[in-house]
Amino acid sequence: MNGEQQAREQGLTDRVVASFDDAADPRLKEVMRSLTRHLHAFVRDVRLTEQEWRQAIDFLTATGHITDDRRQEFVLLSDVLGASMQVVTVNNEAYANATEATVFGPFFVDGSPLIEAGGDIAAGAPGEPCLVEGTVTDTAGNSVPGARIEVWEADADGFYDVQYGDDRTAARGHLVSDDDGGYRFWAVTPTPYPIPHDGPVGKLLEAAGRSPMRASHLHFLVRAPGLRTLVTHIFVRGDELLARDSVFGVRDSLILDFHPRAAGEVPPDGRDLGGRAWSRVRFDIVLAPDPGSVPAPDPGSVLAPDPGIVPAPAPGESPDGGRR
Ligand SMILES: [Fe+2]
Repeated sequence: MNGEQQAREQGLTDRVVASFDDAADPRLKEVMRSLTRHLHAFVRDVRLTEQEWRQAIDFLTATGHITDDRRQEFVLLSDVLGASMQVVTVNNEAYANATEATVFGPFFVDGSPLIEAGGDIAAGAPGEPCLVEGTVTDTAGNSVPGARIEVWEADADGFYDVQYGDDRTAARGHLVSDDDGGYRFWAVTPTPYPIPHDGPVGKLLEAAGRSPMRASHLHFLVRAPGLRTLVTHIFVRGDELLARDSVFGVRDSLILDFHPRAAGEVPPDGRDLGGRAWSRVRFDIVLAPDPGSVPAPDPGSVLAPDPGIVPAPAPGESPDGGRR
């Protein structure tokens, strides 16, 4: 490319970046200037043709048209581009041995039933029984009693209860960790399911030769005072989808052994499983300190709080329609 061409392209980028210089909100200014630089760099990098630009506009238009109160194709797009997971990663900084976070997904329902220790969240959801147990601790290893543990999952047919079309509650619930930070419940062994792939995002996946399937998982949301809220899943070791989860939600540390147990083997709580095979998994949850709960230093101290540390948005605050 000759120097004159390069100068024209760079000059345009510079003028657009500078157009945000007077934005009253410094954060808006920072975000829009960076977005402009990256967007222009992308256009110049791939030498985007005018026809490709029109195709991109058509794609985004179709993404908008299929989106409504129940279907959020833009979130799905964010998911399959790994943008949702990158936002989770940026906002849940690695901290010592704290359990890693992953995508929240659209199927959490507030007000799930309280499950007593050792109770069953399945409530009739089809699937192989699975005994889930573990502890909640802080990063120093101290037990966290009274943590609120929300769990939810798809059934063996790949559906969440909110997709049943009736008002049933199944395969979801919440528990409270005991005095030693322990918890135990019955669920169903997680199985894979596809994100919706009948829209523009599905077409993109198809064109890219990518699968819409999500690796098998069980969702957790764990809250305790003074500790960082954890939104995560656990995954099933050996699942062939782990390496190509359609929304990039898998973390190695979240892949656990779901030990298969033969039909007829009596579980530790003596529960009658009607002669069915079952599985058993242990998930020890480690919560990071909540940056928002760190005591503020004295006024005037040089150790002013870092304005960059803000609590992660409460789960459910962002609309999200992709099946995850
Ligand atoms: Fe899910």
